[in-house]
Amino acid sequence: MRKIDTSRRKKYDFLVIGSGIAGLSFALKVAQHGTVCVVTKSALTDTNTEYAQGGISSVTYQPDNFEKHIKDTMVAGAGVCNLDVVKKVVTEAPEQIKQLLEWGTNFDKTDDGKFDLHREGGHSEHRILHHKDNTGFEVQRAISTAAKNNPNIDILENHFAVEIITQHHLGEMVNKWRKDIECYGAYVLNGKTNSVETILARVTMIATGGVGAVYQTTTNPVIATGDGIAMVYRAKGAIENMEFIQFHPTSLYNPKERPSFLITEAMRGFGGILRRKDEQKFMYRYDERENLAPRDIVARAIDNEMKTTGDDFVYLDITHKDHDEIKEHFPNIYQKCLSLGIDITKDMIPVVPAAHYSCGGIKVDLNARTTIQRLYAAGECCSTGLHGANRLASNSLLEAIVYAEAAAQDALKHFREYAFCDRIPEWNDEGTSQPEEMVLITQSKKELEEIMSYYVGIVRSNIRLKRALDRLEIIYHETEELYQKSVVSQQLCELRNTIQTGYLIIKMARNRKESRGLHYNVDFPDQLK
Ligand code: FAD
Ligand code: SIN
Repeated sequence: MRKIDTSRRKKYDFLVIGSGIAGLSFALKVAQHGTVCVVTKSALTDTNTEYAQGGISSVTYQPDNFEKHIKDTMVAGAGVCNLDVVKKVVTEAPEQIKQLLEWGTNFDKTDDGKFDLHREGGHSEHRILHHKDNTGFEVQRAISTAAKNNPNIDILENHFAVEIITQHHLGEMVNKWRKDIECYGAYVLNGKTNSVETILARVTMIATGGVGAVYQTTTNPVIATGDGIAMVYRAKGAIENMEFIQFHPTSLYNPKERPSFLITEAMRGFGGILRRKDEQKFMYRYDERENLAPRDIVARAIDNEMKTTGDDFVYLDITHKDHDEIKEHFPNIYQKCLSLGIDITKDMIPVVPAAHYSCGGIKVDLNARTTIQRLYAAGECCSTGLHGANRLASNSLLEAIVYAEAAAQDALKHFREYAFCDRIPEWNDEGTSQPEEMVLITQSKKELEEIMSYYVGIVRSNIRLKRALDRLEIIYHETEELYQKSVVSQQLCELRNTIQTGYLIIKMARNRKESRGLHYNVDFPDQLK
């Protein structure tokens, strides 16, 4: 073990990994009480949050009420939601909307000064607060500005968290049966100096977002590589429900574009109709809620129609609605489609399903505590029990901020009890060198995306899942070998994290001997009681 040079390490009361709605909300909520460091692997605003279109759900006006929102969330979740969590998130929503407004977020209003509420699939009422069709951009703008203006928050952009630090790094045996695993901070790769720094913290918050990058077609930006889930899994923390990957039914069909551009579900709430290429409607054959059925049902219906007809896409048709209203409600989608020669007031929009959201992740309790002490998680990387087997649209921005609040309240009660651990060694890269061939990384990434897309997509089967696992094992071993020999790099770490995330999805999908919500297996087509 090399001598510890403690002068190079940073110490904060709170270390936050990730700068989306979960991470920055937590940072802003604790910053009055201690020092905060936010590390983020790209630019501050490079997050899934920034891409959110439809909005954020909250009960606002009658005839809506908490009971209806709770029921809609439970129905979408197909029997896997935790009722206590659902009640918590739904009833705390109005308070957290107020918080977003205080941080400077603007939501659209009608002429009478009330919030303009949209409706999306699975919602029995209009309850989606939104900012045009780019709500996430507006939320990210507001919280980024608030965080940048807060003198207690240090923001380190282009800093990639490689591992969370636990007793493992003190040379102790750590396994999943140990109940006293503690997190002391993280090893973080500084993208400018290419050196790994040690950041020690009393409390660490993981808010690293989603996993879309494991699939070929995804609405998620490239940052969504499941890093937090993989780090916690390696540190022996509990992960759950990874089989429930949500495919959004309507991403714009434009094969060369990555990420896939989303066509918000609010467009179906506004009256949009799904049609086959021959212009026939089809949703009435799958569910009485037709175009506003929950996402799992709509995505599977589209998948089935595409397989039956052999077509590469279906259409979303909004041409029958008032043209000015379309442009007013969906200005960014209008412009984007126009740039590709599609005038959505006159032309139908070609759409396909795309990997969109991870309902499972790092297991947390009602206080956002993970199974590792001093480590909290919030946002898309965690599994609270809200979404169950299928997330209700626009419940995720809400969940992220409600759980940032829960974590902040709990952490503020305890953080002074936790000492900094000064015995942590510096990152040790002795005996490693630069990988000679980047193709080893880029090609494995492509293979992973193919395996996940062809064998672990919207419709699964036992043989496909087995094949996926066998293929993944090969690139897993190759990548681990490469990782042990190589100087740490963001690209290699992301590949390693996506492979481990893919493994968790497959493993949990294989363990589930039924079809439920987003997990559909043709060999077990029924839902168990
Ligand atoms: P993110 O916003 O993704 O932030 C993750 C952060 O972690 C980023 O800053 C990233 O750089 C950082 N990070 C990751 N790994 C590391 C690492 N190793 N080291 C350092 N930093 C790291 N939800 C809704 O409720 N309503 C919507 O309308 C909606 N629309 C959506 C539209 C699109 C196109 C997409 C993709 C998602 C949408 N969602 C929507 C889902 C929602 O946007 C996300 O679930 C939510 O924003 C996740 O927030 P987060 O803070 O957990 O993660
Ligand atoms: C959308 O606008 O359709 C996305 C909403 C969500 O993912 O919650």
